[in-house]
Amino acid sequence: MKTLRLFPDADGLARAAALLAQGAAVAIPTETVYGLAADALNGEAVARIYEAKGRPSFNPLIVHVPDLAAAEAIARFPDPARLLAERFWPGPLTLVLPLREDAGIASLVTAGLSTIGLRVPDQPTARALMRALGRPLAAPSANASGRISPTSADHVLDPDGGLDGRIAAVLDDGPCPVGVESTIIGWPGGRATLLRPGGLAAETIEAVLGQPLARHEGDPSAPSAPGQLTSHYAPRSHLRLNAATPEAHETHLDFGRPGPFSLSDSGDLAQAAARLFDLLRRADALGRPISVAPIPDRGLGAAINDRLRRAAAPRP
Ligand code: TXA
Ligand code: MG
Repeated sequence: MKTLRLFPDADGLARAAALLAQGAAVAIPTETVYGLAADALNGEAVARIYEAKGRPSFNPLIVHVPDLAAAEAIARFPDPARLLAERFWPGPLTLVLPLREDAGIASLVTAGLSTIGLRVPDQPTARALMRALGRPLAAPSANASGRISPTSADHVLDPDGGLDGRIAAVLDDGPCPVGVESTIIGWPGGRATLLRPGGLAAETIEAVLGQPLARHEGDPSAPSAPGQLTSHYAPRSHLRLNAATPEAHETHLDFGRPGPFSLSDSGDLAQAAARLFDLLRRADALGRPISVAPIPDRGLGAAINDRLRRAAAPRP
């Protein structure tokens, strides 16, 4: 398969929408990372996502919609969920909610669960595409399973671990400003719970809810917490975390100091999140062990550290 690179003009949007309507998988920009999108109502189209990524089939996918009204046609919104949606959508927040049986979502999307993860991306091209298509899009990150998430169209097409030749097209709208995946909130057992730290700080959500979020615990590879697979976002090189001082043979991702691989010269966590996956890739390409400076565990630092721990975890 030849993978087309499309651009966010009228022609590119029309071609991307036509491919998705035909059941193809197309990589799309979001504010967090590029997603590999398919029509969430079409089981065969969704199967192409799993096929292209080589993804374990028990992982449910996040469904993307253009606005809250479209989300309410797919899931039921308890009051606290509506509060968060009204406050933070469009934006890097996914809500796991009870699925409406009659919404027509392919069961492969939810991996058979009775809940569904929904979000409204803060990315004008993605939302224009969804409006043109008139259908929700299932979209995990557009990388081969277990590899580093893509924050540019070039990453999506990377000959090493990318999807060139495996998907119909990538809609190239430049780099992703947030750079890490969305924060996922659910209500298992009725309690607001942080299921995955991400691009919206947990503290910001807690301030709106007026209560602390429960933190998800349990077996990281269990299907009840899919996506919590321990080894994920893995570079090929060995990765050493909390490295205050780099060894001479390491490529060092610094923080709060200038340097060729600094996540942020000034210690800005949002800048570090936006650069994380790109710098990991560029460091990995040098083929030497990688070390990363300590990153404060507050705000977006929690998402950065979560991704780094997975990237450093033993490979399966
Ligand atoms: O920023 C993002 O969220 C990106 C962009 C493309 O939007 N998407 C993304 O999707 O990260 P994905 O498929 O890589 O993440 C899906 C994760 C699952 O692994 C799981 O943790 C959670 O979302 N999830 C989805 N549906 C769920 C459900 N019904 N119950 C519990 N967790 C769910
Ligand atoms: Mg992913």
